[in-house]
Formats: sequence, structure tokens, C-alpha cells
Amino acid sequence: MATIDLTGKKVLILGGSGQLGRRLAAEFYRRGSKVMLAGRSSSDLEQEARQLGPEVVYSSFDLRDDNPGWIIDESVRLLGGLDGVVNAAGIVAFGPLEELTDGVLNDLVAVNFTGPLRVMRAASHRMDDGFLVNLTGVVAEQPVGGMTAYSAVKAALSMATRALARELRPKGILVLDARPPHTETGLAGRPVQGVAPPLPLGLDPDVVAARVVEAVVAGRRELAAADFTP
Ligand SMILES: NC(=O)c1ccc[n+]([C@@H]2O[C@H](COP(=O)([O-])OP(=O)(O)OC[C@H]3O[C@@H](n4cnc5c(N)ncnc54)[C@H](OP(=O)(O)O)[C@@H]3O)[C@@H](O)[C@H]2O)c1
Repeated sequence: MATIDLTGKKVLILGGSGQLGRRLAAEFYRRGSKVMLAGRSSSDLEQEARQLGPEVVYSSFDLRDDNPGWIIDESVRLLGGLDGVVNAAGIVAFGPLEELTDGVLNDLVAVNFTGPLRVMRAASHRMDDGFLVNLTGVVAEQPVGGMTAYSAVKAALSMATRALARELRPKGILVLDARPPHTETGLAGRPVQGVAPPLPLGLDPDVVAARVVEAVVAGRRELAAADFTP
């Protein structure tokens, strides 16, 4: 398996204002990559970029847009090229399917599945090598009642990511499906609908982010949930 040297690599982090995204950005930055953050809130992104380093760039965008792939052209413009895209954006909803509204269902699909696929499609047009990463999640391996739609869209993204890994292998693009278990980022406390059930203590987000970056460096194509536990 070929290893990837991250020094000087131009890396776009979707969800760069989020708890895992900001840690991933910090880890790429620490390893010498040029980093761009993208997410919805420009004030959060600006603050995060400023904390990280003076040369860190950012742009706000919404994965629910008709064509969120424009963020790829923007990253090529702001970074002066593009070597990697890490998708750490996502939303979650809890509760029985019978209570799920159409609006929330549409958002879960757009943010957690179709939006990332559109971004990855745009990236694969612009990249000749490098890496694409999706943070999918343990629910892609073990569906959870009360998280029917979230489990389904994460499983769909996981499968798409693994298929894309095969598709882009001849082009020399590494595609990684990372499926972390529950992690203490507070995501479960920010659902777009419903209330989280009591959850066991999750993993340390620093450990999860470090493991994802190590997997990119090692040229891995999958990080199963079990790969995250010590
Ligand atoms: N935490 C866990 O237990 C866990 C486990 C497995 C997998 N994951 C996955 O890991 C990823 C990161 O999760 P996290 O725990 O770090 O959550 P988080 O802190 O809530 O971060 C989520 C990020 O997604 C962005 N985002 C949300 N809606 C968006 C939209 N419509 N367009 C663009 N960006 C949007 C947010 O930006 P704004 O705040 O600006 O909206 C934020 O930067 C998610 O895909 C999640 O499903 C998490």
C-alpha cells in the first residue's frame, strides 16, 4: 500500500467548523498541508481558520444547494489546486420514522448523501491523484432503530464511497470510507429532529480525527468501526 506525504497537500475539509472537521483540519495543518475549511456558518469558519493559522482559507456553502460541487472550483481557486477532500459534514435526527417530517428527510438525504456525492463527483473531475474521504459512521454497519433515515443515508454514502474507491483506483485517487463509532462531539445533542436516547460514553474526537488522518497517510480505503477502538 502506497503512503501519502501530506506536506504541501491542498486539502478541503467539508464541515471544517464541526468538532471532527476542525480536528481533522488541525491534523492536516500540523502535518504541513494547506487547508481550506467549508461549512454553513461563515463566522464559525472564520474563527476556526483564524485559530488554525494565517494562511488557512475558508468558504461557506450548503450541501443542500442544487450544485454544492461549486465548492470544488472555489477550493481550487483559493488553494491554488486540490489534492484532497475530507467530508466531515453531517446532520442527525432521532425518533420513530412515523414522526419524521418530509423536510427533515430531505435534509438528511441532501446533507449526508446526495450533497457529498455531488461534491465528490466535482472533485473527481478536477483531481488526477490525491484522496477523497467520507466520514460515514458505525450506523452504516449496524442500523439503529429510532435513526432509520440517518442509518440508511449513511449506509448509502458508505457503499457509494467504497464503490468510488474501486472506480477511481485506476486514476490514482485514494477513496476512504471511515465509519467511526459514537464520538463525544456533541452531535447527538444537536439533532435536526427528535431527542437522542441515552448513549454510552463515546470515543475521544481527537483520537478519531488522528486515526482518519493516519489512514489517509497509510493509503487505506476503509476504516471500519472496530478499527477506531483501542
Ligand atoms: N459524532 C459522532 O458520534 C459521529 C459518529 C460517526 C460519524 N459521524 C459523522 O462525522 C461527521 C462530523 O460529525 P461531528 O460529530 O463533528 O458533527 P458536528 O460537530 O455537528 O459537525 C457537523 C458539520 O457539518 C456541517 N454542516 C451541517 N449541515 C450542513 C450543510 N447543510 N451544508 C454544509 N455543511 C453542513 C456543520 O456546519 P454548520 O455548523 O455551519 O452547519 C458542521 O461543520 C458527520 O458526518 C457525522 O455524521 C459522527
